[in-house]
Amino acid sequence: MCGIIGYVGHQQALPILIEGLKKLEYRGYDSSGVGIICLDEPKIMIRKCEGKICNLQELLKTHGLPESTIGISHTRWATHGVPSRVNAHPHSDCSGKILVVHNGIIENYQELKSVLVKKGHKFLSQTDTEVIAHLIEEHSEKDFLTAVQKTIRQLRGAFALGVIHSDHPETLIAARIGSPLIIGLGKNENFIASDVPAILDRTAKVIYLKDGELALLRKNLVQVYTFAGKSVRPKIDQVSFTVGSVHKEGFAHFMLKEIHEQPNVLTQMFSSRIKGFQIHLEGLQLTDAELKGFDQMMIVACGTAYHAGLVGKYIIEKLAGISVAVDVSSEFRYRSPIITPKTLILAISQSGETADTLAAVKEAKAKGAKIISICNVLGSSLARESDGVLYTHAGPEIGVASTKAYTAQLAMLYLLALKLSRVRKKISRKTSQELIKDLKEIPSLYQRILKHTQSISRIGHDNAHFGCFLFLGRNLNFPSALEGALKLKEISYIPAEGYAAGEMKHGPIALIDEYRAVVCIAVQSDTYEKMISNIEEIRSRRGKIIAIATEGDDSIKERVHEVIYIPSTNPLLTPLLVALPLQLIAYSIATKRGCDVDQPRNLAKSVTVE
Ligand code: AGP
Repeated sequence: MCGIIGYVGHQQALPILIEGLKKLEYRGYDSSGVGIICLDEPKIMIRKCEGKICNLQELLKTHGLPESTIGISHTRWATHGVPSRVNAHPHSDCSGKILVVHNGIIENYQELKSVLVKKGHKFLSQTDTEVIAHLIEEHSEKDFLTAVQKTIRQLRGAFALGVIHSDHPETLIAARIGSPLIIGLGKNENFIASDVPAILDRTAKVIYLKDGELALLRKNLVQVYTFAGKSVRPKIDQVSFTVGSVHKEGFAHFMLKEIHEQPNVLTQMFSSRIKGFQIHLEGLQLTDAELKGFDQMMIVACGTAYHAGLVGKYIIEKLAGISVAVDVSSEFRYRSPIITPKTLILAISQSGETADTLAAVKEAKAKGAKIISICNVLGSSLARESDGVLYTHAGPEIGVASTKAYTAQLAMLYLLALKLSRVRKKISRKTSQELIKDLKEIPSLYQRILKHTQSISRIGHDNAHFGCFLFLGRNLNFPSALEGALKLKEISYIPAEGYAAGEMKHGPIALIDEYRAVVCIAVQSDTYEKMISNIEEIRSRRGKIIAIATEGDDSIKERVHEVIYIPSTNPLLTPLLVALPLQLIAYSIATKRGCDVDQPRNLAKSVTVE
């Protein structure tokens, strides 16, 4: 995680750095800092503080920095050392001439630090980053570039770096391995950033620095080298996308706005991807013959995207008859997956920058697998690593809790499953057409659910005092239960567990008493009767039950304390509908408890460390 932005050029660096930093706040927001070279002396000067970037802006109002045309800045998501001013970046060396910002983890920092301490270096922070500044200082008898190169070769782990040195006030050095870093090319100015949107209103000309590359930037020069020191001719890309609107538009939070954007996101996806009854998956880069040829799929993803993948397993196996394994990305690479030439890997990620998912994809690629991805962010690292990409085009998702990106991932998985099933002739044309018709109805069913936002919020508010929640579902709504629990815990900090309802009697039932709330997904399906039996079991143990049921199911009211109805649809599509009340429950409980729903504690929107 963490966001980096650096500048060298002809303009005042500070406003550029702060503005860029604000656009990277989704990567972490526990502390932030900025460092410049005061060109008159020259010397480095830093300002940093705990908390969000607005705190840094406040600090700069009272403790400004002199004019400078070179600087680096950082927004942090703590790995080593608590969120604090001291641990915030940039970090410096003993001479106070070198400044470093870093994203990632230096795995061997302890051993490096011990050696440096023995040599007399004084450390101020608990971070792994600080060793980098001291190591560069150690190598400072060499020129700046060589000193950084020598340092980098001593580091193990994943990192992206920005470095400046007051003895070299015209030079900014950047390097990456594992963690993303781009270079923005301007006229008489150049930038480094963790992500394109941070600089997109300044330049659309970028170099995606590759793993194991280091760059030297001056205002009118960019040179790229391998870590070994070999000069590289970088590819310059012209970014063709723009960054969409990032305003709350009258909603209290981005999360609420994004929940309400879901009808639109799906309408747009279906209108561009479904023509008549044909599914068009431009970007997939696989011929029908190739799609027929795979005999297994492996889905890798994290968090909410993993839950979308689990739903994907149910629908792809059911509709297309291909066996699907789903792994959380961080486990995939360590379990020796058996990948054959007939294996298709599908990575799912909103950001396309999730380090675990990228690592899983690289692992699968190394074993010769074909990689496709479902991704929201255009031009992301995942998109660039994949052979084919299905963009969800859900627009920027700012709230840390994924909402519209999740339902867009689900919708894309339905389209993929339908495509695979038609190519492999697993379902009849008629069944496929009926399902497509039902799918196209989903956005209007969303509108109907969202009309009940207030009554769903009332249920959330009335139950916000519970200290523990269970979410239960069966079959393809078992992943919905997992997602409901994740949504609640990440924004309200209430312990919540998602379970397959049939598994409840194997342990979780021990939790149930009048102090626990249980959200039961009891929509019409083949497993409805079984779900009702589970509800009875909870009732007998006095658990407080909130049911999500299908309109018209009046009898359920007698068995539960609260019911949220969703419109009737094809049972196979219910995960798409169930998602909305689950999001609204989590949102209303969290806001009732006064939590910061858009930027929950300890989290970041894009998880770029393994
Ligand atoms: C979702 O609400 C979470 N904040 C988180 O689990 C997220 O889905 C996960 O980190 C994966 O992110 P990605 O989709 O960008 O890869």
